[in-house]
Amino acid sequence: MTTLTTAPAVPAARAAAVHDVAPVLPVVGGDTLVPLVDGRQVPYANLDVAASAPALQAVADRVARVLPLYASVHRGAGYLSQVSTALYETARRTIGAFVGAREDDLTIVTRNTTDSLNLLAGCVPADPATGEPGRVLVLDIEHHANLLPWQRVTDATVVTGGPSVSATLAEIEEELSSAAAAGRPYALLALTGASNVTGEALPVADVVAAAHGAGARVVLDGAQLVPHRRFSLVETGVDYVAFSGHKTYAPFGAGALVGRRDWLDAGTPYLAGGGAVRRVRTTTTEWHEGPARHEAGSPNVVGAVALAAACDELAALDPWVAGEHEDALRRRLVDGLGDVERVEVVHVWDDAVDPVGVVTFTVSGYDPGLVAAYLSAEHGIGVRDGRFCAHPLLGRLGFDAGAVRASVGLGTAGEEVERLVAAVRSLVTEGPQARYDVVDGLWVVVDDPRPVPEGSGLEGLLATAALGADEAFGCLPDDL
Ligand code: ALA
Repeated sequence: MTTLTTAPAVPAARAAAVHDVAPVLPVVGGDTLVPLVDGRQVPYANLDVAASAPALQAVADRVARVLPLYASVHRGAGYLSQVSTALYETARRTIGAFVGAREDDLTIVTRNTTDSLNLLAGCVPADPATGEPGRVLVLDIEHHANLLPWQRVTDATVVTGGPSVSATLAEIEEELSSAAAAGRPYALLALTGASNVTGEALPVADVVAAAHGAGARVVLDGAQLVPHRRFSLVETGVDYVAFSGHKTYAPFGAGALVGRRDWLDAGTPYLAGGGAVRRVRTTTTEWHEGPARHEAGSPNVVGAVALAAACDELAALDPWVAGEHEDALRRRLVDGLGDVERVEVVHVWDDAVDPVGVVTFTVSGYDPGLVAAYLSAEHGIGVRDGRFCAHPLLGRLGFDAGAVRASVGLGTAGEEVERLVAAVRSLVTEGPQARYDVVDGLWVVVDDPRPVPEGSGLEGLLATAALGADEAFGCLPDDL
């Protein structure tokens, strides 16, 4: 079994402080002030980018420009309907090109990564020998989005992997090849492109070689990868990639599944309804092939345009600049937090290279929910706590009580990272200044004095207690 080790061995050079590091791209809300329990207001430090990244300013601008052009898609002869249809189909091409789609690949606009992987799960072909559901190999490090769909509709096998990248690769290779030799080959290997808990990943080229060598396809959960690293289907040979707009600086409700056409054209349509069909009689239906097959109902044209705008912005960035920015912030988080007594930084493997900007840690003696509530209430910092929709991994690593996760992106400033490191150090040395309690499983400030944002529309809701202040400001329960 993989054992948890503490923060990676002391690197040759400790990461320098990053006080002066500026965001790479402007994001909406980058200067939003939030209240603290002591009555002050500070700029919000959004260190929860791995959950939902703020909109790039360029994405918001593009959405504002297309909204006046918005009309029905694929359904109208009106001028703006035709414009909206063209916007939607152009966005589809941009999104596919951004992840290096092959000429014959399909790009299906979905809601998010979870949606994309559920869609693909319904298209994995049955085992030709037995007619039973197709076999899918998964690691236990996966986000639930890349575990539960396989568990529910395919014949899924979950393996643990070893303490190192090489041991884990060897286990995957062994499982794939012995299954093929036994005449029960895997149809698909479903793997994260970067862990949403630690940012670590396996080398894609090795994974693809092992899978294809044993006759299996590869789907990459690109939710944490695609917004942070250049990724190409055609260059890597990966068969499918799924990712989310809300993690790619385009929080307008669209995501994507991009990949090989044959399974998608043969699979059961994901949603039954208008737009997915060629011809319908009262008892029979002729379904479309192509993306329409899985996109019944009115498409999310604004979401697709927003995601395409984000793709355009990211594609125009120098990948070295973007990678260096996030890496400098991540290294500072790992080193800065690792230097604080009683803090343990989590990682899965002892030899992973090039993790994305996700750093998970615990503070001995403090419940993760309390740490997150304290960071918010006393320092204006947003992090995520809990088990990060990755219960098997957190359980295996001994963190059933959860942990705290800080994550960075292109809109993150170095000051936010330094604020977090200083706040955690202050928690350990001085303890929290406010009083906290658990209400309905959530850590909250006792008699929280922080007001709701003026003009947010939440005032009435809070006053009528339809949404309690505890829920509004409490931390996520650890069952998420
Ligand atoms: N999947 C998102 C996360 O890891 C929500 O936080």
